[in-house]
Amino acid sequence: MSVDVVASPASKARSFPLYRTLSRFVRDPLRELERIGRTANGDVIRLDLGASRPFVATHPDHVQQVLKGESENFVRAGTFWQPLHSLFGGSIMSEGQEWEVSKRILQPVFSTKHVRALTESMADAINTSVDTLEAPARAGEPITVLPEMNRIVNETVIKILFGNKIKQAEADRLGPAMEKVATSIAFRFLMPFVPRQIPLPGDRAFAEAAKVMDETLYELVDRYRDDPGEGFDIFTALCQARMTEGSGLDDAWIRNNLLSMWATSTETTTVSLTWLWPILDRHPEIADRLVAEIEGVVGTDRVRPDHLHRLPYVKQVIQELLRLYPVGWIFPRIALKDTDLGGVPVKAGQTVLVSPYLTHRLESVWERPLEFDPERFAPERARSHHRYAYFPFGGGPHMCIGRHVFNFEAELILTSILSRFRPRLLETVPAEPRIGATLRPSRPIQMELTPIRRQA
Ligand code: HEM
Repeated sequence: MSVDVVASPASKARSFPLYRTLSRFVRDPLRELERIGRTANGDVIRLDLGASRPFVATHPDHVQQVLKGESENFVRAGTFWQPLHSLFGGSIMSEGQEWEVSKRILQPVFSTKHVRALTESMADAINTSVDTLEAPARAGEPITVLPEMNRIVNETVIKILFGNKIKQAEADRLGPAMEKVATSIAFRFLMPFVPRQIPLPGDRAFAEAAKVMDETLYELVDRYRDDPGEGFDIFTALCQARMTEGSGLDDAWIRNNLLSMWATSTETTTVSLTWLWPILDRHPEIADRLVAEIEGVVGTDRVRPDHLHRLPYVKQVIQELLRLYPVGWIFPRIALKDTDLGGVPVKAGQTVLVSPYLTHRLESVWERPLEFDPERFAPERARSHHRYAYFPFGGGPHMCIGRHVFNFEAELILTSILSRFRPRLLETVPAEPRIGATLRPSRPIQMELTPIRRQA
């Protein structure tokens, strides 16, 4: 259950001179940030890194002000967003005019109604992709969780993005290139203040992968021009807009948006689903309840979208998963003009970070915050918390447009796997989240799947 939070009366931010505890910070930055979040307990934080001194807002009222109330003042700009802008170009991941035009075109494609229309093909892709797990399961061979989740998610996202407009060979080229982009950008994320001219690890891998992606995506756009065909996919929506808008949209705009979609959808979904399995292994009572629910509804069928509304506990588990592991764990804003955040003056040009990871772990916001408890999201309790006590998908105008896609996808993947296999983790030392663009596990997680039956 959530508890009431009281707005901080402080007129000064709580300053944390990180440069004094640098070794602790470098050794385990996430744990150190978590410790700072707990100590400040909702007060506005000032991280003092010497040259850079960002604020961190964790109190739900303050988060709401930054993401929603004053969203026009707190914008996505500055050094944190540069690596993303150099990757995505002008797209839905930008700000201002570039963001607005992409948002206007993409928003309708992501409505619940439209996404629901895509769920049949998502379920097909997921069931087929989960079939591949049969062979190692029958041979008693363990799988490594992250790459397997990545494979399943990639095969599904390709359907959503491209429908039938992509050939298998092209999909096989794009998938690994995209994963390389997502992982090789981590250093630029962690050290945004390092100029582009200074090489960092990952730069070369990034450039190589970006080249493969560009070649493949432009090929697809060319083919669309010759033969548009039909379809509900995102690629078609973008190409149609390019043909009809006549407002300066070019091939690069299509490429930029496809890339943004891919990057934001595959890495986040893969990493959050990776954390699911260690959690279920640590909580057999939750796993048993999930299995019972799934057996009662899905039986020996292959999972279908119409099963999902009869699987409320699956939904609760996914919601709680994103509370404890909100993989979009931190995102920054820059103030355009002077303002006041919870009594703390913030000047134009200063950075404010918001972090679902920190807010979701505050004791003043969530009772027993480190405990995995899907009951927090039981229907009768779901609305009892502050709107910004839980914000894995952000909020305000930039709120994640892929959240319905994620929910359907995650519920289908979890259900498909548990309707066919019993998982068992093989790890002796638990993996910890490590910061980067998302919260990947610190070490590979191995899992054994035991087939329970042959499906109809
Ligand atoms: C676990 C899964 C996901 C998480 C945790 C997540 C998280 C987020 C967050 C926190 C933001 C807000 C960023 C900001 O305010 O600056 C965001 C924006 C966005 N997400 Fe997601 N996301 C997920 C899945 C997806 C999927 C599946 C898609 C696409 C299919 C997607 C597409 C986007 C896009 C395009 C934006 C930018 C929206 C805008 O600026 O208007 N995300 N996401």
